[in-house]
Amino acid sequence: MMKPSMLRSLHSAVSRRSSHLARRGYATEPVPERKVAILGAAGGIGQPLSLLIKLNPLVSSLSLYDIGGTPGVAADVSHINTRSEVVGYQGEDQLRKALEGADVVIIPAGVPRKPGMTRDDLFNINAGIVKSLAAAIAKYSPHALVNIISNPVNSTIPIAAEVFKKAGTYDEKRLFGVTTLDVVRAKTFYAGKANVPVAEVNVPVVGGHAGITILPLFSQATPQANLDDDVIQALTKRTQDGGTEVVEAKAGKGSATLSMAYAGAYFADACLKGLNGVPDVVEPSFVQSNVTELPFFASKVRLGKNGVEEVFGLGALSDYEKQGLENLKAELKSSIEKGIKFANQNVHVILNRVDQTVFVYDPELVIQFRRMYDVPGNISLVMELARRMVQDKGHPLLFETFLVISKRFSGAFRHMLWEVDALSDTNMVLLSETALRSPVKDN
Ligand code: NAD
Ligand code: LMR
Repeated sequence: MMKPSMLRSLHSAVSRRSSHLARRGYATEPVPERKVAILGAAGGIGQPLSLLIKLNPLVSSLSLYDIGGTPGVAADVSHINTRSEVVGYQGEDQLRKALEGADVVIIPAGVPRKPGMTRDDLFNINAGIVKSLAAAIAKYSPHALVNIISNPVNSTIPIAAEVFKKAGTYDEKRLFGVTTLDVVRAKTFYAGKANVPVAEVNVPVVGGHAGITILPLFSQATPQANLDDDVIQALTKRTQDGGTEVVEAKAGKGSATLSMAYAGAYFADACLKGLNGVPDVVEPSFVQSNVTELPFFASKVRLGKNGVEEVFGLGALSDYEKQGLENLKAELKSSIEKGIKFANQNVHVILNRVDQTVFVYDPELVIQFRRMYDVPGNISLVMELARRMVQDKGHPLLFETFLVISKRFSGAFRHMLWEVDALSDTNMVLLSETALRSPVKDN
C-alpha cells in the first residue's frame, strides 16, 4: 500500500508550482475557479492525467470526456479529497457539456503507436479525431487554452488551427502542442550524464515532436557540464528516440502514458498559472511561431492571462544544433503542410440511390443542406458507398460523419447526400465488414 508520505510527495510534486504562487505573496488572493476538460480521459494517458489534474489545487472543475469509459474513471477520481468537482461525460452528445466553460482543454484522444510505426502512421485515424474535437471546441469553448497531446503533434496542431480559422475562433495564443515530454526526457537523461541533481536541470527542446524534429539544446542546459561531443550526440539521439524506446519496451501495448501524463499535467499547470497571472511562467511548446520560416515551431513560450505572451527565439546554438535545426526543417514543414491540407479537405459525396453513382458535391451546398435537414441515415449504405469509393478511386480517406436528405426531395433531387471525411485502411476493414453483412438495397 502507498504510504501517506508517498502520497504527500506525489501531491506536492504536482502542486509545487502552485505553492510558488503562495510563496510569492499571492496567498491572500482567492484562487480563481478554473475548469479543465480532458478529451480522451479514459485512455492510457487520460486516466493518470485525470488523477494528476485532480491533485492540482488550481482546478475547481474537472471534466472527463471520452467516447466510452469515463463514468468509471470519473467516479473513481472524484473520491479523492482535493478541490475539484469531477464529472464524466461519454459520447458525442455529451461533448458540449464537457467543454462548456472550460479554461483549459487537454486532448490525449487518439491511437498510440505500436513497434515499427512512426508517429505519422497515426495520421489517418488521429487527424480525423482531432479535427472533430477541434470543431467542438470552436463551438462550445472557443476561449479555452487547448493543449494537444494526440500524435502526430507536428500535424494535429496545424489541423486544429485550420479548424479554428474556419470557425472564426482561431487565436494563435491559445493553441499549444504539448512537447513537454521531450523536455522531461532531456532533463532526466542530461542529469544522468552530467551527474547533477535532476530537479535543478533545465534543457530547452525546440523544433517539433517526432524523431529528428525534436531538437534538445544541450549547449544551453543548466547546470552547465562540459560533456564531450559524443555524449551530447548520444543524449540528443536518446531524447529524439525516447518515445520509440517506450513503444518498443511496451512491445505492442502502446506508447508512453505515465511519463506523458506527468508532462501533460505539468504543462497544463503552467497554462493555469499563466491564466491566473503568475509572472515568469516559461515552458517550451509547439505553437504558431516566427522563430524560423516554419509557421509552427516549438520553443520557449511565456504563458500569461491570454495564453502565449511571448515566443522566445532559439538563443545561441552550437554547430551541432545548427545542423540539427537545418536537418529538421524539411520534415517538419511537410508534416505541417499535411495537417493543413487535411483540415481543408472535405469530401462530400452524393449517392444516387437509383444507379448508385457517386458525385463529389459542392461543400457550401452540403453545409446549407446540412443545416436544413439533419436526419440520421442508413449506416450500412454509407459504409458500402465508402468501400466502393475507396476501391474505385483509391482515396486515402477516413469515414467521419454522414447525413441523409433522401425522401425530403423528389425528382432530380431524389438522392442521398453524405458527408464523408477520410477513410483509413483500419476503418475500411470495419466498414467493409459491416457493409458485406448488410448489402446495399434499392428502395
Ligand atoms: P489510448 O488508446 O490508451 O487512449 C486514447 C483514448 O482516446 C481512448 O480512451 C479512446 O477511447 C479515446 N478516443 C478516441 N477517439 C476519441 C474521440 N473522438 N473523442 C474522445 N476520445 C477519443 O492512447 P494513449 O496511450 O492514451 O495515447 C493517446 C495519444 O497520445 C496517441 O495519439 C499518442 O501517440 C499520443 N501521445 C503523445 C505524446 C506527446 O508527447 N505529445 C506522448 C505520448 C502519447
Ligand atoms: C512519445 O514521445 O512518447 C509520444 O509521442 C508517443 C510515441 O509514439 O512515441
